Amino acid sequence: MSLLTMVFVTFSIIYVEARNKNHNKNKLHKPHKNSSNGHTRGGSSSPLPAPAPVPHYGPPPTQMGTFDVMSFGAKGNGISDDSMALRAAWNGACKVAGATVKVPAKHKFLIMPITLQGPCLPGLTLQIDGTLLAPPDASSWPKSSLFQWINFKWVQNLTIKGSGTVDGKGSNWWSSSESYDMQAIRFYASNYIVVRDIKIINSPLCHLKFDNSKGINVNNITISSPENSPNTDGIHLQNTQDVEIQHSDIGTGGLGKDNTMACVSNIIVEDITMRNTLYGARIKTWQGGIGIVKNVSFSRIQVYDVSYPITIDQYYCDKHICKNQTGTVVITGVKFDQISGSYATQPVHLACSNSIPCTDVDLTDIQLRPSLTYRDFQQTLCWNSYGKSQGSLLPSSIDYCLRSGGGSIKRIARSRDHSLCY
Ligand SMILES: *[C@@H]1O[C@H](CO)[C@@H](O)[C@H](O)[C@H]1NC(C)=O
Ligand SMILES: *[C@@H]1O[C@H](CO)[C@@H](O)[C@H](O)[C@H]1NC(C)=O
Ligand SMILES: *[C@@H]1O[C@H](CO)[C@@H](O)[C@H](O)[C@H]1NC(C)=O
Ligand SMILES: *[C@@H]1O[C@H](CO)[C@@H](O)[C@H](O)[C@H]1NC(C)=O
Ligand SMILES: *[C@@H]1O[C@H](CO)[C@@H](O)[C@H](O)[C@H]1NC(C)=O
Repeated sequence: MSLLTMVFVTFSIIYVEARNKNHNKNKLHKPHKNSSNGHTRGGSSSPLPAPAPVPHYGPPPTQMGTFDVMSFGAKGNGISDDSMALRAAWNGACKVAGATVKVPAKHKFLIMPITLQGPCLPGLTLQIDGTLLAPPDASSWPKSSLFQWINFKWVQNLTIKGSGTVDGKGSNWWSSSESYDMQAIRFYASNYIVVRDIKIINSPLCHLKFDNSKGINVNNITISSPENSPNTDGIHLQNTQDVEIQHSDIGTGGLGKDNTMACVSNIIVEDITMRNTLYGARIKTWQGGIGIVKNVSFSRIQVYDVSYPITIDQYYCDKHICKNQTGTVVITGVKFDQISGSYATQPVHLACSNSIPCTDVDLTDIQLRPSLTYRDFQQTLCWNSYGKSQGSLLPSSIDYCLRSGGGSIKRIARSRDHSLCY
């Protein structure tokens, strides 16, 4: 880490994922079953262990409506546990309309796994100008919170911004033999969330995850992990609607081992740069899933040496062998527009289900050249994908990759898109 060259980013991904619901239930809900224990929960009602002395409750004298963690007993030295201070500042701000929780610059705050819970009064801002540090040692994490570090739950109308950094300290996790299904920042059942300007680095697995949420705007953020992070994801959307991800620099990723319910719609991902990443714009689903992924648009994505810049994978499998199943999540209405740069393996990989093809896939103005630093390339693949390609296309094989028509398939798909989602 002391060398700049070591901190370059290897994989990257922004993806929308869907998975068999039962699987999801088993894996996702179990860890949260008892998040009401101990200090993993926000909310003033939870029985807290004897807290460090908290100097003030309520706004500090400097500025009304600003809840600076330093005024709530944070040390900001990167060593003392400042979780209680962050929680106290959050709980105070939560009760004041238009309040700001301030994480000041030039300080590092060690934060244990924490849930910051709403609902709060409207207009809450979390201003991160300093650094939030995860505990470095995986074994110090409570077993019940192995799945997220900073968890926002039931929060509405929150803005997170600032020039600071959220550091997941993931290196111990990456080298661990166990695999953890871990997110640095997770929003659960939270709506109208803006995340902007901050950096999120070194997440154990997923940097930023939204599930059961809607109205998300992610803008001008930087996500990165060093080269030795084999398995991290950038932004992960699960069961989430109305999302815009813009003007961000995402450099991380790989095959996230994660679980997703299959209800994802109205997603815009635009003006993103990715470097040396495994995936670019990607949608993956497990076989046997139910639900729908629809109306997803990826545009103006610049890739540099990305292995698979454009991917739909309905055969996603996180084990050596996954059972073939006929059920699948329906995928319809996916636009890839102005995706350009260099690919390291295969420019386009659309592997749709045998039973229900992908429909309304658009490939427009795709300009992907083989990387100069790699040698083994694969040809464009479009399996069971219906839609249209237009504009200037490179490689030109993209032009005849998609099948046209698919009207009757669309009807079948619609009949299967399961009102479950809504
Ligand atoms: C969760 O923890 C609470 C308090 O510690 C306990 O009363 C409850 O039985 C636990 N629930 C489960 C499902 O373990
Ligand atoms: C939350 O944000 C949404 C979208 O910006 C807005 O329509 C709504 O009025 C806001 N609600 C509150 C309580 O501020
Ligand atoms: C993007 O974020 C950076 C870093 O926080 C900030 O300096 C810059 O002003 C932001 N740009 C815009 C357009 O908001
Ligand atoms: C598709 O998603 C975008 C972005 O959320 C939204 O503005 C648009 O109305 C959606 N289109 C349809 C047909 O739902
Ligand atoms: C699943 O289907 C594919 C293609 O039809 C076949 O090659 C593969 O062996 C099957 N896998 C299993 C586990 O049945």
